[in-house]
Amino acid sequence: MEKEVKVIFEPSGRTVHVLPGTIMLEAAARAGFIIHSPCGGAGKCGKCQVRVQAGKCAPNAPEAAALGEVRVAEGWRMACQARITGPITVEIPDTSLFQAQQQILTQDAGGELHLQPRVRKQYVQLPIPGQHDAGTDLDRLRAAVGPFQASLPAVRELPGALRSANFKVTAVLVDDELIGVEPGDTMAACFGIAFDIGSTTLVGTLVNLATGVDIAVAARVNPQTSFGDDVVSRIQKCRTDPKGLAQLQTAVLDGVNKIVDELLRKTSLDRSRVYEIVFAGNTTMQEILCGIDPSALGELPFVPAFREALECHAADLHLHVNPQAKVYVFPQIGGFVGGDTVAGIVATRLDRSSAPSLLVDIGTNGEIVLFANGTLWATSVAAGPAFEGARIANGMRAAAGAIEKILLDGDVRINVIGNVKPAGLCGTGLIDVAAEMLRMGILDITGRIQSAAEVPDTISAALKARLVEAENGEVNFLLVSGAESATKEPLYLYQRDLRELQLANGAIRAGINILLRTAGLQASDLGSVLLAGAFGNFIRRNHARRIGMLPPIPCSRIRFVGNTASFGAKRALLSTEEKNYAARLVDAVRHVDLSLDPEFQMEFGSAMILPDHELDGCGED
Ligand code: FES
Repeated sequence: MEKEVKVIFEPSGRTVHVLPGTIMLEAAARAGFIIHSPCGGAGKCGKCQVRVQAGKCAPNAPEAAALGEVRVAEGWRMACQARITGPITVEIPDTSLFQAQQQILTQDAGGELHLQPRVRKQYVQLPIPGQHDAGTDLDRLRAAVGPFQASLPAVRELPGALRSANFKVTAVLVDDELIGVEPGDTMAACFGIAFDIGSTTLVGTLVNLATGVDIAVAARVNPQTSFGDDVVSRIQKCRTDPKGLAQLQTAVLDGVNKIVDELLRKTSLDRSRVYEIVFAGNTTMQEILCGIDPSALGELPFVPAFREALECHAADLHLHVNPQAKVYVFPQIGGFVGGDTVAGIVATRLDRSSAPSLLVDIGTNGEIVLFANGTLWATSVAAGPAFEGARIANGMRAAAGAIEKILLDGDVRINVIGNVKPAGLCGTGLIDVAAEMLRMGILDITGRIQSAAEVPDTISAALKARLVEAENGEVNFLLVSGAESATKEPLYLYQRDLRELQLANGAIRAGINILLRTAGLQASDLGSVLLAGAFGNFIRRNHARRIGMLPPIPCSRIRFVGNTASFGAKRALLSTEEKNYAARLVDAVRHVDLSLDPEFQMEFGSAMILPDHELDGCGED
């Protein structure tokens, strides 16, 4: 195995180990940083600049020309061009981060955002009641802050708060409702949490509502995974087990509350100062979160219980924040196209693209949205858990010990997360090895692994030795020997693993093809393909394209856009106008229900066949 090199990203100090030759953009993604790359890594926009603080990293010719002698001497490099050759420390300035771009709200990262949270705090000094001024406490407060509806809990707090603080209090209003009265001036403490509730992972971002700045982020595995990998198994549980819904709701709320506790612990903030929580998730997740039975999503024609945004108080869901805090659950489109997809459109402004654009969120459920000629179409496909490493014999999630990158030349070169001995293969490694085997002729277009006798003569003896014939006549590919693996067992890529990959791959591509056809477009008409989601951001574009998951367009048109469900949820948290935008999108999007599409099975069948050639001009990722 080739030795990996250490890369430290500053100012966070986050460290990853990558193979020599890895592009800086990819190493940063590995460390969880999505670098802004509007030109798709073509070296043209100059937005991906990073600064080498220690270690060597020679610029290539276009990079040197674009940056100029002085900046090169200062250590500046373009992350999409720079290759890591040895241990290195690299600073990523805020201006180069996609997420930071979202926070500072530039035009191209998601449009202008006017900070307009629905939560408003106002510090007031009220006149003390006297003989000639015996109006009620509420009247006194209204005279100072304007008209509002008062919630009962707020009225309960009011007399005590006024008298304990000499009538100097902070009123907390959500839209036109008074939800609390706090003694003294608490204007500076005004927070909200944006949640992406995925089938596999929950992510919460604590945000300062007064400034729009992120305070902390926390993530954890969705505890519902113990009831099944995908939404179908969870719907099934609700359909067959009378206690199923309650158990699943408790599990997800428990995960959410653990994240809330972690965010508040990290920041030493008072939970009573969190006044709004926004949730974005797929339809099944959103319904279960709210305690709505999703059974109807388990039968044709897959009908969700609601479309518009849902609202309630934190106390209704037993959330560990201010009990009067508002909860906003994203509006959803239809079938399995839920609030996370709406949040994705909000985050990317897909509907404002100048050319036909595709947003693809690849997960157990793949969501695909196409914008063309002023219209949005959305669909979802069941890709299955292959990309999460499930149903793959030696598969695992993208955690320490997972092979996340594979290159084939004379032999197998792998990159393992955490720089430890390999224990299994995650989704990106699976795509890599399939693409590489296809490129070299070890895999044919039907997805069959060739035997050593069948592969082209150009294949090295070392690679041929890895093609091991099983008793059933199938050929399996030895990735890592028992001596080199963490488990001491050899790690194989089995023929049946490739079938699982073909199913997932075929479903996504069939979904893309049907949307394109619905819009009357060819793949070549696409101006951009935006890859979203935790998994999407680690895919190597040339390999995803090589196996046919993505359409044959130049890699420069394929861009990573990060966790758009989180970004969209944060936008909605920070601005009422963004919530209104989400509501308008739900009315505008045309839902393409593939379960009702007679062409889907045919399209799926042909998308299972792997492409027989590589498109020119993609370049290496
Ligand atoms: S120059 Fe555009 S992404 Fe690097």
